[in-house]
Amino acid sequence: MSGLHIDKISMRFDLPNGSSVQALKDVSLDLKAGELLSVLGPSGCGKTTLLNIVAGFLAPTEGQITLNGHKVVGPAAERGMVFQQGALFEWMSVRENVGFGPSMKGMPKAEKAEIVDHLLDVVGLQDFKEKAVYELSGGMQQRVALARCLANDPDVILMDEPLGALDALTREKMQGLVLKLWKETGKTIILITHSVEEALLLGERLLVMAPRPGRIHKEYRLPFAEMGVGQDLREVKKHPDFGTTREEILSMIWDMEEEIMGRTENA
Ligand SMILES: Nc1ncnc2c1ncn2[C@@H]1O[C@H](COP(=O)(O)OP(=O)(O)O)[C@@H](O)[C@H]1O
Ligand SMILES: [Mg+2]
Repeated sequence: MSGLHIDKISMRFDLPNGSSVQALKDVSLDLKAGELLSVLGPSGCGKTTLLNIVAGFLAPTEGQITLNGHKVVGPAAERGMVFQQGALFEWMSVRENVGFGPSMKGMPKAEKAEIVDHLLDVVGLQDFKEKAVYELSGGMQQRVALARCLANDPDVILMDEPLGALDALTREKMQGLVLKLWKETGKTIILITHSVEEALLLGERLLVMAPRPGRIHKEYRLPFAEMGVGQDLREVKKHPDFGTTREEILSMIWDMEEEIMGRTENA
């Protein structure tokens, strides 16, 4: 059984004061190898919790996850994570950051150097190989983070708002890079984002999650990611269906947030 199967996952956090938070309830999802999924939803709807469970950082209170037929029981190199900015090893050079996974695996030096060189080419950082992390711009740091993740050759790449801290122009370039990596590597990718436009561009499938308890509210299948491979993303955004879907999802999330605010005010 290939692919990622998320089977009726629920997650409850028990708090020290005796109360509890139902962060996820009955979330099920099947992803085929090579699918690109984006996940949207108001703050607190369980997006990060879901990703952490798939990564194996958290064990769900109910349900299970299988990848290519075996049960996920903890973190492993087959499931790579790209965090929002700031998760690189500051004391290592770009080259050492990207080579970290292969080093840990004990890969021979020459083979590691070849992989690192190749990946730095792919993300456009060959000239920055010996630089320290702090010498790089935010966008470049995220390029390193992507390359470091790819160096482990994961089956699934998990990204939690990886472009959230970048300025608009850099972000647009990085969205193009994510699409290119997706097409060239054939990896399964799950990307969480706050931006509706980004979710439309970077999701063949798009999940809208709802809060309290965190669950899947609606799923879309979209043509824009495929259209954006090798095409200017600004052109993709001009597609009439892009605008219509964006408006539909924006009002969906707006309504959820209104409801959350209402509940908070009445609490
Ligand atoms: N370790 C934790 N302990 C207690 N509550 C948590 C913990 N992690 C997340 N939560 C709660 O679970 C809910 C979902 O959180 P999270 O997955 O971070 O949402 P999102 O990423 O969609 O903003 C929130 O109500 C949050 O406060
Ligand atoms: Mg989050």
